[in-house]
Amino acid sequence: MEYQKLIDNALAIRKLAYVPYSKFYVGASLLTTDGKIFNGCNIENASYSLTMCAERTAIFKAISEGYKNLSAICVVGGFDIQKVTEYCYPCGACIQVMTEFCDSNFKIVLYDGNITKIHSLKELFPHIFTNLT
Ligand code: THU
Repeated sequence: MEYQKLIDNALAIRKLAYVPYSKFYVGASLLTTDGKIFNGCNIENASYSLTMCAERTAIFKAISEGYKNLSAICVVGGFDIQKVTEYCYPCGACIQVMTEFCDSNFKIVLYDGNITKIHSLKELFPHIFTNLT
């Protein structure tokens, strides 16, 4: 399947999530338009609001390495470190960050351990905030 590699990467990196507070393990695997993959996990902090989501970890890794053209991200999450059983949608903060770098056709790939669901960014966030003209 087209996004199998992203799913495999997201499932693998979620095991590295640093989640002593929520115990909710999230992994994200981001595909650039030129085929490069950046993976990220969530990283929590004792000062809770400093937590970084998996999606933003992956996106910031890509941007900081010079890759700004992004085509898809797979997100997987759940409490069981061994397997996922539910879909994990990106939070509003991460979707807002996606709108900064991704066009409305950017794909968000979700996996519940069984069936893959694919949404466009426009479906999840039809009316974006921007102050660029
Ligand atoms: N989390 C993510 O990594 N991505 C999301 O889109 C939603 C939430 C993380 C943040 C926190 O470490 C844990 O999941 C529970 O909210």
